[in-house]
Amino acid sequence: MPARTLAVAGAKGGVGKTTTSINLSAALAEAGLEVLVVETDLAMANVVDFLRFSPEETLHEVLAADAAPRDAIYSVPGGFEVLPSGTTVEGFVNADVTEIPAVLEAVEDRYDVVIFDTGAGVSHESLLPLGLADRTVIVSSPRVASVRDANKTAELAERLGGEVAGVLFSKSGTGRSPPPEQIASYLELPLLGHVPEDPAVPSAQDSGRPVVTVSPDSPAARAYREVAGTLFEEKADRAARTNGDSTTAHNQGARNRPDGDSRDTRNRPDSDDRASSGSIDTAVNDN
Ligand SMILES: Nc1ncnc2c1ncn2[C@@H]1O[C@H](COP(=O)(O)OP(=O)(O)OP(=O)(O)O)[C@@H](O)[C@H]1O
Ligand SMILES: [Mg+2]
Repeated sequence: MPARTLAVAGAKGGVGKTTTSINLSAALAEAGLEVLVVETDLAMANVVDFLRFSPEETLHEVLAADAAPRDAIYSVPGGFEVLPSGTTVEGFVNADVTEIPAVLEAVEDRYDVVIFDTGAGVSHESLLPLGLADRTVIVSSPRVASVRDANKTAELAERLGGEVAGVLFSKSGTGRSPPPEQIASYLELPLLGHVPEDPAVPSAQDSGRPVVTVSPDSPAARAYREVAGTLFEEKADRAARTNGDSTTAHNQGARNRPDGDSRDTRNRPDSDDRASSGSIDTAVNDN
């Protein structure tokens, strides 16, 4: 059975997409799931910095047909696996973004969950996973510029035929930011949770490990675990029931994806359904 796929997106830079991808993965791995993070931020890779490893082959080489996907997958602290982006401009230039669906097809049968960590902005490689994944998690800070971009990201995901699972707020607003519930309601998206500003997050990154792993009782770790449970409750239950049946995925051969894809896409018919960006200032009276 193919993995459930999740895109972690948000056009505003630095809101916590990579931190979320890594920590949702660690939380899901903790629950017994086999998880792969595919870093599709091809221009500005960060996973290698946050998890402190130096891969030889990366998604750059895979997308240039210079390496097989299985040769660019690495086990990382936190009990999950990563197909990281490379860090060079040359690798970025040579990467063929249109091969991303084929890469997913080659690896997904070996995992319960595949998470796409997408980059900021609206480049081809940032948007493609939103139409490819079963669901998209929109990450935003509770600040107006970030919420405005989150709104656009949700609209783009829907236009691409993707399903938006909801919005995850990360870090803090200022004193004037409304509560996450209010912003989520303005965005017309389910609220998946709020990961508070937490010094344990940068500290975990300094140690090259997910905060869920290195500071399991920190507020951020608790919040990420809760969001992972909300997103994958059914999967976590199944993994708990079949614990011990899963195989080690690293460097196994690829299997074909079976027919009868049951991915659950909800196509919102037009963009009028989304919140009008003109009223964001009043909804989020902050920047
Ligand atoms: N809950 C948090 N508390 C404190 N710092 C955080 C939190 N979440 C993320 N950060 C910090 O914010 C910075 C940006 O996070 P991250 O790289 O995950 O964002 P991003 O959305 O992936 O960025 P980009 O758009 O560049 O890909 C990092 O330095 C990270 O340590
Ligand atoms: Mg990132």
